Amino acid sequence: MEKPKLIVDGRRLDGRGFEELRPIKIEAGVLKRADGSCYLEMGKNKIIAAVYGPREVHPRHLQDPSKAVIRYRYNMAPFSVEERKKPGPDRRSVEISKVSREALEPVIMKELFPRSGIDVFVEVLQADAGTRTACLNAASVALIDAGVAMRGMVTAVAVAKVDGEIVLDPMKEEDNYGEADVPIAFLIRNGKIESIALLQMDGRLTLEEMRRAMELAKKGVMQIYKLQREAIMRKYMREGEDYEGSEEAMEVERERECEEAKGEGEKERENRKEEGRNE
Ligand code: CDP
Repeated sequence: MEKPKLIVDGRRLDGRGFEELRPIKIEAGVLKRADGSCYLEMGKNKIIAAVYGPREVHPRHLQDPSKAVIRYRYNMAPFSVEERKKPGPDRRSVEISKVSREALEPVIMKELFPRSGIDVFVEVLQADAGTRTACLNAASVALIDAGVAMRGMVTAVAVAKVDGEIVLDPMKEEDNYGEADVPIAFLIRNGKIESIALLQMDGRLTLEEMRRAMELAKKGVMQIYKLQREAIMRKYMREGEDYEGSEEAMEVERERECEEAKGEGEKERENRKEEGRNE
């Protein structure tokens, strides 16, 4: 197919400006059986992330007595792309799983969970370029949802060069026909970018273009980071609401009342003793 014009009158094919992200939707805690989970949409990408653990590692010989073992599996559903993808792992998914695991590993406080394993599964249900970065964003939320101790949040976005322009968050057409594609992930700590967790590049950029790409990526991830945080907060607010009035909350309240009554009884006995002594 002939390369379409990707930028017309300063706008991209989907009407976005160069510095604009696609619409993003993030929801934490969507799977009942996982310890942590997340559903994320970034443009037409649809991703599910599930985290299991920290839990016992099988097979046992993979255990590390000093820290947790992290496993990350990126998988694309056969129906996620235009041309049916053969199910199962391939070179691309093995590579993406490896680099994504390496991006998350230094951020997870592995030393707190010796001999255990933390498994991260990400499933691409619908793909439209930038799936590895979208998956990392979902995985990070799912890890926090699972209560895994983290040094910060991993937030990722891709930047591309299309028709000579550096643009944020490329979609499929831009990825296919663009001159360069640069997925980047950052470690964000206390609301500030601390370091680069992943950086890959397909194509060529000049040093100046790379600087611009980095600038756009930084702007983009701060917006995504905010949405990741909000998704986690929403999940905990929801849990808080569910907790109030629940059987567990009533039990805690009964115990508290019992303790209070005991305390009062004791105080009264002490007072009576005191009065007896004074008489
Ligand atoms: O998805 P990401 O940009 O991280 O990785 P990529 O290897 O640069 O793939 C770009 C896009 O190509 C994917 O997001 C899919 O939309 C598409 N793709 C496809 O159509 N069929 C495949 N077997 C693999 C990727």
